[in-house]
Amino acid sequence: MSDQVKMTPLNYSADRPKAKNPVRIMDLSLRDGHQSLFATRGRTEDMIPVAELMDEVGFWAIETWGGATFDTMHRFLNEDPWERLRTLKRYIKKTPFSMLLRAQNLVGYRNYADDLALAFVERSAENGMDIFRTFDALNDYRNFETVVKQIKKSGKHFQGCICYTLTEPRLGGEVYNLEYYTDRAKALESMGADSICIKDMAGLLAPYDAYPLIKALKEKVKAPIHLHSHFTSGMSPMTHLKAIEAGVDIIDTCMTPYAYRTSHAALEPLVMALLGTNRDTGFDIKKLAEINDILEKEVMPKYKHLLDDSKVSIIDINVLLHQTPGGMLSNLVNQLREMDALDKLDEVYKELPRVRKDLGQIPLVTPTSQIVGVQTVNNVLHDTPGERYRMITGQVKDLCYGLYGKTAVPINPELQAKALKGYPRGEKPITGRPAEVLEPELAKAKAEIGDLAADMEDLILYALFPVTGRKFLEWKYGKTEAPASVKPITLEDVKKRDELVKKALAGKLVEVKQVEKPPKSQAVRTFNVFVDEEYFAVEVDPVGNTHLVSVPQPVAPAAAPPQVAPAPMKAPAPAPAPEPAHDGEGTVLLAPMPGMIIKYMVKDGDTVKQGDAIVVLEAMKMENALAAPCDGKVQGIKFASGDTVAKGAVLCVIG
Ligand code: CO
Repeated sequence: MSDQVKMTPLNYSADRPKAKNPVRIMDLSLRDGHQSLFATRGRTEDMIPVAELMDEVGFWAIETWGGATFDTMHRFLNEDPWERLRTLKRYIKKTPFSMLLRAQNLVGYRNYADDLALAFVERSAENGMDIFRTFDALNDYRNFETVVKQIKKSGKHFQGCICYTLTEPRLGGEVYNLEYYTDRAKALESMGADSICIKDMAGLLAPYDAYPLIKALKEKVKAPIHLHSHFTSGMSPMTHLKAIEAGVDIIDTCMTPYAYRTSHAALEPLVMALLGTNRDTGFDIKKLAEINDILEKEVMPKYKHLLDDSKVSIIDINVLLHQTPGGMLSNLVNQLREMDALDKLDEVYKELPRVRKDLGQIPLVTPTSQIVGVQTVNNVLHDTPGERYRMITGQVKDLCYGLYGKTAVPINPELQAKALKGYPRGEKPITGRPAEVLEPELAKAKAEIGDLAADMEDLILYALFPVTGRKFLEWKYGKTEAPASVKPITLEDVKKRDELVKKALAGKLVEVKQVEKPPKSQAVRTFNVFVDEEYFAVEVDPVGNTHLVSVPQPVAPAAAPPQVAPAPMKAPAPAPAPEPAHDGEGTVLLAPMPGMIIKYMVKDGDTVKQGDAIVVLEAMKMENALAAPCDGKVQGIKFASGDTVAKGAVLCVIG
């Protein structure tokens, strides 16, 4: 046992003598826990049964908000995120609330303007937030300036994060070494950080790196040191112990039902491991068991179907192999699967470090993990031996322009020049604080949404998420009815589902009737359809009077890319000759990937030129502007803002 952790005679009871230097614990079950395990689908009504008990444990804080909760709640749960904060505050009265704030990205995926950032923090504090755990994906603390100003003004706790990432399999090497982290910690301290957090989102921090890291931080800065280390790789319980020996002040854990896998180590074993030592948490194990029992019986059954049970192992050793966050890996796999390109996974693993290096060796955390991940997949799918970065996403262009901040090392100048060719803000990257170039957003948002936003909270929600935010506000105020998919399920529903599964497993379910194929009519015609580099022969038999069929052509690169435009996809095969005379003939623009329509830049009847932006499609949280494949008149727009579309969906016809 290390000299840092001393034993006193063991005492199991809750009123055992208080430790000299107890480890403080922040509970993450109600935010990161369900975000990591259940796609952030935790509902407020399922937090209430344990809320008062959790308030009694003695946590340093409880994380209740931020991260993806704001997005997911209004989008998928038909819940007002602000309301959660107010509701939980009525049950949890003693323990401070903590939220994850993506600095100038707030709780979204891009840098927002200062007026919106100030309003967001001010309203969050006013609605009950106490601790603002703030991070920036690039560890560029200029992105903290605006939110920190308001956190301090609201009299709240500013926790500054250092995103933990590596250049080599272990701490050290060129960029992300001990000096880097102590330097960042000092920068945070000089900004007035009330505590400093090592945010190890991928579970990369090894126990024997944690020890010297925490020791160095404790020597160099005065603010309490907080460790956030995901379990993903399996190292975190060991890392916690070494960090505790090195003197870490606060540790993040989850209640057991919300623990492990890509979440965090469980609290209960840690409490037991430290029992009777000078770092004893002092927590009542029986009380924890009581909370566990409620979660296990009343809450978890509603969520267990969301657990990724595709793998038996709870540890993802890919993280150890590739030093990338588990969430990012599963996104990559999903993205490849949706593109029918899972066989390219090995190429993606090889390409990923190259893309990351080109982009300035940035840490991999939301949103940079998405930016690097999506661009890597684009490269693997669309690059040719003669040309790299053939399809550059809008976000990579923004990064190259400097909109996310300063990268750890300079961006590959060749890529930067290519990305910024025709970039609407200018071809010369900025070097100042990114938000300085952003126009105020709130007044514009108010003009757009009008009275549908009843108060500032509504308006902020809309400003952060214009498409889904408007949809939510329409549900909230009874303008449209929320779909069944956003309604909660009850334990009763779960019981029925479980019984059905049991029956099916026992072979007692009646076989589902197959849908009969309709007979082919005389009108059936065969088309050659090219999607990216794949070719399909498709037979089309018109039903009723829908005659919207045509030959797709590859989308040509945009001459002047609009706002968020990625260089569009280009299939190398020459376009097939269009089929002769047919009503509604034209060239179809297909969705190159599944996603959500953000907006059409054109309407039916508009005349467009090849390369004009037609529609912005959000896929994997990235916005892609798709360009007109040819000159002509737009027709056949069947989708609207907010609609989800499948890969290959006809977005419009140009003829
Ligand atoms: Co986390």
